[in-house]
Amino acid sequence: MDGFKPTLAYNSGVQQFNLCFLGFGNVNRALVRLLDARETELRDQHGIAFRITGVASRRTGWIADPYGLSAHEVLSGNLGQESGAGNISRTRVFAPHEFHDVRSWLEAARADVLFEATSLNAQTGQPAINHLQAALERGAHAITANKGPVVHAYDELMALAARQGRRLLFESAVMDGVPIFSLFRDSLPLVKLEGFRGVLNSTTNVILGGMEQGLSFDDSLRRAQELGVAETDASDDIDGWDAAVKVAALVRVLMGVKLNLNDIQRTGIRGVTGDAARAARAEGRPYKLVCRALKAGKTVQASVMPEQVPLSDPLALVEGTSSVVYFETDIFPGLAIVEDHPGLDATAYGMLADFMRAVTK
Ligand SMILES: NC(=O)c1ccc[n+]([C@@H]2O[C@H](COP(=O)([O-])OP(=O)(O)OC[C@H]3O[C@@H](n4cnc5c(N)ncnc54)[C@H](OP(=O)(O)O)[C@@H]3O)[C@@H](O)[C@H]2O)c1
Repeated sequence: MDGFKPTLAYNSGVQQFNLCFLGFGNVNRALVRLLDARETELRDQHGIAFRITGVASRRTGWIADPYGLSAHEVLSGNLGQESGAGNISRTRVFAPHEFHDVRSWLEAARADVLFEATSLNAQTGQPAINHLQAALERGAHAITANKGPVVHAYDELMALAARQGRRLLFESAVMDGVPIFSLFRDSLPLVKLEGFRGVLNSTTNVILGGMEQGLSFDDSLRRAQELGVAETDASDDIDGWDAAVKVAALVRVLMGVKLNLNDIQRTGIRGVTGDAARAARAEGRPYKLVCRALKAGKTVQASVMPEQVPLSDPLALVEGTSSVVYFETDIFPGLAIVEDHPGLDATAYGMLADFMRAVTK
């Protein structure tokens, strides 16, 4: 864009990055708030400065401003007047969704980093895969909270990132930003993961807990929706698809095996009645939607299904929106991570930490 010059307002030790946000729902909004809150610390203690140069979603349209948008204006949605599909005003490009082209949007925003947080498509991983590919091809780092691309296009995207000398990072895709992928990648070199089990889906955990307390399935689901945990159409959670995608992502990255979703034995929680949930709790073996994966020769056997878990098992202890994963490795026979009642900040933090990893390594 004519007249654009990069800002050189910082000392030489500080690097500045243009950040773009694709999908502007709960996660990316929380990320903008967190970046805004930590801006000074990032710059003064880590030498990382940023400006927001792109925001896009179906409703927002595709907005680019290489001079930078303030966190306040993107969060308030007060982004000025639309100048027409694909038109370029002095500083801003607005385009209604139907005219969008991710590549030209990233170009107009001069993106250095893309934060991808569009909705999960469990079956194909699209359009998030295309978004991440476009960012990497442009030479931007690609950071996502979306597990679809990890399951459906991990090899291709990692190879592209390597060719481009950029990072593809996805810490927030499983367990809301708890360091799982980076734990194995950065802190447990050479450790072999033999298997894991866990409770990885909040909606089903909230529903099962509600039924134990006497609510019907539908009332428990409504409670999960009121908590903001379950979507209006919660069938991906209830039928175990969301958990299966998480299992496939963990198996692909941490165990090196590509599983199709249909390879994962999957049963949701529709068959668990209120009476069964209360009886299971009364006998000290509550129902949980348990995710499992276990190495079997060169492949991995994996399942997602409701199981009764004894109270002595760490999986029985997580309630509501909390989650847990218990890893079995060749060096550490049992290694558990428990995430207690995470908020959106946890997911946003995973993406912020990925950003710092991408630009400092
Ligand atoms: N919420 C969490 O706690 C959490 C935790 C870990 C991971 N994740 C993952 O993070 C991602 C985002 O979650 P969220 O809670 O932020 O969802 P959300 O609030 O529903 O936001 C999704 C955003 O993606 C946009 N979008 C969907 N399809 C699009 C497309 N084809 N092109 C452009 N924009 C599109 C939506 O646009 P419109 O609103 O305009 O339709 C919306 O802005 C999901 O993949 C989710 O699985 C979420």
